[in-house]
Amino acid sequence: MGALASIVTPEYVRVSRSSGNSSTLADLQGEITAIRSGFPDLVTTIDAVVVEGDQAAIFWTSTGTHTENFLGVPPTNRRVQTRGCNHANLVGGRIAREEVTWDGSELLHSLGVRHLSDTPSTPPEVTVEDFSGDPDPQVMKTFNRQFITGVTVVTTQDGDTPRGLAVNSYASVSLEPPLVMVCIQKTSSTYPALFAATHLGINILGTNQRETIATFASKTPDKFAEVDWHAAPNGSPLIDGSPASLEAEIRERFQAKTHTVFICRVRHAEVVEASPIIYKAGRFYDSDDLTQL
Ligand SMILES: Cc1cc2nc3c(=O)[nH]c(=O)nc-3n(C[C@H](O)[C@H](O)[C@H](O)COP(=O)(O)O)c2cc1C
Repeated sequence: MGALASIVTPEYVRVSRSSGNSSTLADLQGEITAIRSGFPDLVTTIDAVVVEGDQAAIFWTSTGTHTENFLGVPPTNRRVQTRGCNHANLVGGRIAREEVTWDGSELLHSLGVRHLSDTPSTPPEVTVEDFSGDPDPQVMKTFNRQFITGVTVVTTQDGDTPRGLAVNSYASVSLEPPLVMVCIQKTSSTYPALFAATHLGINILGTNQRETIATFASKTPDKFAEVDWHAAPNGSPLIDGSPASLEAEIRERFQAKTHTVFICRVRHAEVVEASPIIYKAGRFYDSDDLTQL
């Protein structure tokens, strides 16, 4: 890191060509530390350096294995190679300003993750980062309590161990193609297995599965000990007696700060005659006892 400081000027600034964002030497040092800790075997090779007057172009390749947490992404053990080019303006033989073709999102892409702010369809003036004056979290809580949902259990197979958690952030995205989404907190003990999985199961729970919800909303080590389940074609645990269950292939993982949004393509679905449970403001209700308007 000291060597890096010695080849740049005190006013050093680094500009990402893709995002237009500027960063300082301290930002760059932080980024390098994060990459080195996520990819401990990282090797960077300088492929070519072209200098003309006070301009230089540096072409490089980095290769490493993702064996440790990197920017919230649990180890995938993927071997990743990434290339970049830095265009440097030199002052007194030191780099004063660099334009770089590479930024951290490149590595995240190769690990199968995208940030919501990377989505091309997001209008530039509105991103997940852009809320000036966020509403009070209490107001958001009150807002969410006005939203009625069902409850699902999202599952995956972690080697020989079935895992899962209670989730009400399920939504159907589209029918053709059959896409669904769930939003999972990164601190969930199920998250690393879900992140590494190719498929997941989504079970819509019924009025007679109140106990099952309690189990899957807890941190109980073996949540499947008390429930009967069967494996979907790609191994995802489907809970017997659920009004509906599906298995879906994970297609996109969007990082949204504390949570990851999984967009999945449904590959298998089962529906039985049973009433789904209703969840509103922390309480559960019977869907057979509704008044039609
Ligand atoms: C009704 C209900 C809905 C929930 N929805 C979600 C959700 O959408 N995403 C999430 O990450 N956690 C959700 N949770 C919380 C998790 O189920 C809970 O944190 C659980 O203990 C996680 O277990 P794990 O850490 O063993 O994976 C919900 C809990 C309940 C009771």
